[in-house]
Amino acid sequence: MRDFSDISWPAADFSRVPYAVFGDLDIFEREQERVFRGPVWCYLCLETEVSKPGDFKTVFVGDRSVVVNRALDGSLYAFLNRCAHRGSTLVRENGGNRKDHTCIYHHWSYDLNGKLIGVPFQRGINGQGGMPSTFHKAQHGLKMLRVSSYRGVVFGTFSDHVEPLEDFLGAPMLAFFDRMFAKPVEVLGYARQRMPSNWKAYFENLTDPYHAGLLHQFQTTFGLFRQTQKGGTIMDDLRRHQIQYAHLDSDDLATVETAYRGTGVYNASLRLQDPSIVEYRTEEGDAGQAIYMMSLFPSVMFQRLSNSLATRQIRPRNPDEFDLYWTFFGYADDDPAMREMRLRQVNLVGPAGLISMEDGESGVEVQRAIRRERHDHSVIEMGGVGDIVDQDHTVTEVPIRGFWRYYCQLMGFGPGKPQG
Ligand code: FES
Ligand SMILES: [Fe+2]
Repeated sequence: MRDFSDISWPAADFSRVPYAVFGDLDIFEREQERVFRGPVWCYLCLETEVSKPGDFKTVFVGDRSVVVNRALDGSLYAFLNRCAHRGSTLVRENGGNRKDHTCIYHHWSYDLNGKLIGVPFQRGINGQGGMPSTFHKAQHGLKMLRVSSYRGVVFGTFSDHVEPLEDFLGAPMLAFFDRMFAKPVEVLGYARQRMPSNWKAYFENLTDPYHAGLLHQFQTTFGLFRQTQKGGTIMDDLRRHQIQYAHLDSDDLATVETAYRGTGVYNASLRLQDPSIVEYRTEEGDAGQAIYMMSLFPSVMFQRLSNSLATRQIRPRNPDEFDLYWTFFGYADDDPAMREMRLRQVNLVGPAGLISMEDGESGVEVQRAIRRERHDHSVIEMGGVGDIVDQDHTVTEVPIRGFWRYYCQLMGFGPGKPQG
């Protein structure tokens, strides 16, 4: 097995990240095993998407297809989407409602708890063929994941060793969920996009406040977010998850003009013909934070950007490609005007969003330039080097180093560690 000793991590504080980890198939395979099927809880779906007994949704953990379904007794189960017979994909639909799942190949069927309940011709036909007497259906169920929910958000894990979900999330993230999911939610729609980039370049982007007021000229110019606003980052104890927040209208134009002078990013003379897309309607419990986003290691973000609420889930496909799944939602008790507002503000994000389109593009440009680089490193020093601590401003990249530190811990390599 490769020991990865050829990949160097020259800075103990993760302020240098080797480009070699972005384009390597062996690294990708190890990530699937040690990160996505390792001691983590991965976001699967919202409970409201599988609300009735028999409801199912096909999702994924890392590059593996997984099905979540609600059993007849109301409990949630998730299983690897692979028939226990000869390995066919079991569920081919994105979702629906069923009493059991039957494979198309030889029609083995499974109940909603993942148990094998039917094997055609098990006893043979007219005394011929059939399975041997040593074959017992009870030994051939589906491979199950452990499932746990918090505030109606469903997570799954392949690991027998990961801590309980609430401990994995940690206090600041639980508080985020308590706020964002204080009331029942309603799914408004979905989008997905394929990115010719490495999934970690996107996770870096999610945890990078520095770019947000520079790459996204739309939000800087029209005031949705600027580095001059009051904002910051809160992390869990292990620095693997991050919450970013910013307060609308907390800066003054003189400071904005001074800070952004010469950047070409902020243009005071531009006006929107229809400014409703950047209006913000205050919501209960938002504490004035129109930007309130949580990235959970390894692959999901929960977003409030103005009144647009969404999850963004990363599905890695290979070292040079991942899919991003968006689920847009609102609250079940939204009035028609608020629902309309949320739908309008979906245009800010998603594959062609006025803001998030550039996040996709920046990842593509990074991957294009580094994918086969073996010896160079990125520089992550904005906001300071050394300790990885909460930030009370957004002129920083410190949270990105938190991601890398935990990633390396799971992968078994990194600065100062014996490789492999
Ligand atoms: S592979 Fe599924 S029944 Fe044979
Ligand atoms: Fe961004």
